[in-house]
Amino acid sequence: MTTHGITTDVSLAAEILRSGGIIGLPTETVYGLAALVQHENAVHRIFDTKGRPRNHPLIIHVSSLEEAKKWGVFNGTAIALASAFWPGPLTLLVPRTSLVPDWVTGGRETVALRIPSHPMARLLLQKVSDGVVAPSANKFGKVSPTTAEHVLADLGDEVDLILDGGACEVGVESTIVECTDSFQILRPGKIASDDIQHVVGRDLSSTTGPSRAPGMLDSHYAPIAKVLIVDTLEEAEELLKSTATSSSCRILHFDDATVYAEHLYSELRDADINRFDVVIAVRATSEGIGPAINDRLAKAAAGR
Ligand code: TXA
Ligand code: MG
Repeated sequence: MTTHGITTDVSLAAEILRSGGIIGLPTETVYGLAALVQHENAVHRIFDTKGRPRNHPLIIHVSSLEEAKKWGVFNGTAIALASAFWPGPLTLLVPRTSLVPDWVTGGRETVALRIPSHPMARLLLQKVSDGVVAPSANKFGKVSPTTAEHVLADLGDEVDLILDGGACEVGVESTIVECTDSFQILRPGKIASDDIQHVVGRDLSSTTGPSRAPGMLDSHYAPIAKVLIVDTLEEAEELLKSTATSSSCRILHFDDATVYAEHLYSELRDADINRFDVVIAVRATSEGIGPAINDRLAKAAAGR
């Protein structure tokens, strides 16, 4: 298939997906690399394009809870969370139905499902009215893309088309919550553990450690620059003074965690474009989206 470059033409994107292509897809979290669930070859192409091991399962994106139930079995907790946060940056891990092919879940008995809130993603999902798998549209282990230009820079003509929906509003990947016999947060995101506890009335405090979904390695989201994490801006400035002579070094810090998340990945990418050797990142708050930022920073720091 020939590449169609970057476009805002959702109908063309839907046509390409239906004919077995793969596209860059904007969501409110990060850009995904999308294909239809049923197109086995297209799904394999996603793994190959990303350089991702085939047994790392993919999230199926849908446009309604009704459609989600085609792929997954929802218990009361899952229904409550879906009703509260969909469409939005939440992925639910539930037992799969027999319709889910092994090439999506790597043979697992569970499936990850999400209804994104980005208007272009929603329109596309309504047009195709079928499940769309979409891992983040980055090379395996690298920083996720939050603009169409990031996808172009990483994957270029390896994708058939990139749908341009502007810069992602959230900036870090969805919160993943397991709603099977076990109930836990597998990956922190914008929907915080307090938000989740509030809806389900159950305590998550013992299960909110670092992300644990399979395929979530200690090192991930990693730029080429070395990432050092400190607790305060003062510490960052001290460290900058002591290292600035030996290497080109910059500080990464935003007071507002929402703004921090929104800019985190593009800042890490910019550090590489500008050939910084070291990024000194100031840890975010432990509330709201803060833990998601700190989780990604820890993985970026483990990258070397
Ligand atoms: O915000 C997001 O979730 C973005 C956008 C594009 O929707 N997608 C995304 O996908 O972050 P990906 O593939 O980069 O991360 C999904 C994570 C992976 O670590 C994968 O292992 C885990 O979800 N996952 C998917 N299906 C699973 C399953 N059946 N069991 C356990 N973990 C699963
Ligand atoms: Mg990813």
